Amino acid sequence: MEARGFAIATVVAVAAGGALAGCGGDDDGAPAEVCVVAPGDGPAAPTSGPLCRRLSTYRLFADVPGQVPAAGVEPFDLTTPLFSDYTDKLRFVHVPAGGVMQWHDVDSLAMPVGTILVKTFAYAVDRRQPAAGRRLLETRLLVRMDDGWKAAAYTYGDDDGDAELAIAGDLIDTEWIHDDGQVRTNRYAVPNVNQCANCHAEHDEVVGPLGPKARHWNRVQPGGSENQLARFVALGWLAGAPDAAAWPRTPVWDDDGDGTLDGRARGWLDVNCAHCHNPRGAARTSGLDLTPTQTDPVQYGVCKPPVAAGAGSGGRRYSIVPGQPDESILIYRLEATAPDVRMPELGRNLVHVESVAVLRAWVTALPGTCATAAPAP
Ligand code: HEC
Ligand code: HEC
Repeated sequence: MEARGFAIATVVAVAAGGALAGCGGDDDGAPAEVCVVAPGDGPAAPTSGPLCRRLSTYRLFADVPGQVPAAGVEPFDLTTPLFSDYTDKLRFVHVPAGGVMQWHDVDSLAMPVGTILVKTFAYAVDRRQPAAGRRLLETRLLVRMDDGWKAAAYTYGDDDGDAELAIAGDLIDTEWIHDDGQVRTNRYAVPNVNQCANCHAEHDEVVGPLGPKARHWNRVQPGGSENQLARFVALGWLAGAPDAAAWPRTPVWDDDGDGTLDGRARGWLDVNCAHCHNPRGAARTSGLDLTPTQTDPVQYGVCKPPVAAGAGSGGRRYSIVPGQPDESILIYRLEATAPDVRMPELGRNLVHVESVAVLRAWVTALPGTCATAAPAP
């Protein structure tokens, strides 16, 4: 929990430079709100100016500790998610009255001003027993304003009733019982606002959503029985969708019965890596393109030498050596925890043992051999 006081102090300082530089605060010591949100009962977001200091100001939840969404807020999940140190994640979307999301075959769906995307991170008390409860860590928001998307994290204090803006991020010491019954710990890192942009600026340094792509959303809604895309079409929230038979779908990474091993591995790399590793992303200079539509094996790493020598290759010659996961830089970096080696470089302290097993099996099954003449970096 260290750094929490520091983070809040920074928020006040930053927010005081915003549009409504009100000082002081509530009687209970909470910082005064600086954002402008339409009055009423339902969910709402500012469409310009600063983000709110308190999560409760957006009126997203009927019950914050239980993470029960308010009317007008829909839960969603992805077929294959981003791994974040074994946290559980709860995702929600609010589309304002009269607004509509526009279908796209490949990119994130376009969303109207006033949309709020919500992702809460929590550790289960005991991963083997969901009924044992969970500890809320943070709720991240992406808010669609007049001039584009704004990102922010809100951290929970000792009580889960509300969360406060954490511009500078946070470090939270955590403990849970893992799948194997063992106690695990993690110094969980809440990203700062600049780090949000490192991942969320998928193309040309413009911040935006990453998960709301038709292929990731093509699954049953959590807590429901209906397909999410069908649900959003029925609500009038999603326009331009083709016939359901034409909807693309990312396979479920850990379901052996879902499509091919190649599809599951490439789908996992899509969600976990391609927001940086694409020709217009933050990792474009690496030349490694992990988007699922890339069909040239060299572009997605097979026998691809690193662009720059350094600790990141661990003495290996190629991102992927078919049949040889131990010789593949990509696997080496998935299994690394050192900050200058691990991939992704943000958002992970722990190794995702289960997905590494899938990626190892994929590399082992890839055909071909690499020329051995390439110099070791
Ligand atoms: C390591 C890269 C990374 C960082 C850092 C990161 N995100 Fe994300 N975020 C993702 C990915 C990938 C998804 C979609 C996959 C998922 O939800 O499992 C996502 C999903 C989300 C969502 C749900 C809507 C969507 O785009 O899918 C929100 C809201 C969000 N992030 C907010 C934030 C905020 C706010 C920050 C900074 C405090 C942040 N994220 C930092 C990678 C990142
Ligand atoms: C936040 C952006 C970001 C994310 C997310 C990310 N990477 Fe990277 N990656 C980079 C950058 C920047 C480089 C180039 C610098 C370096 O090698 O560290 C790189 C380099 C690499 C390289 C070396 C490529 C070469 O040929 O030089 C590999 C392999 C790699 N990443 C794999 C992955 C994998 C696998 C994932 C997903 C699990 C991933 N990365 C997620 C930013 C990212």
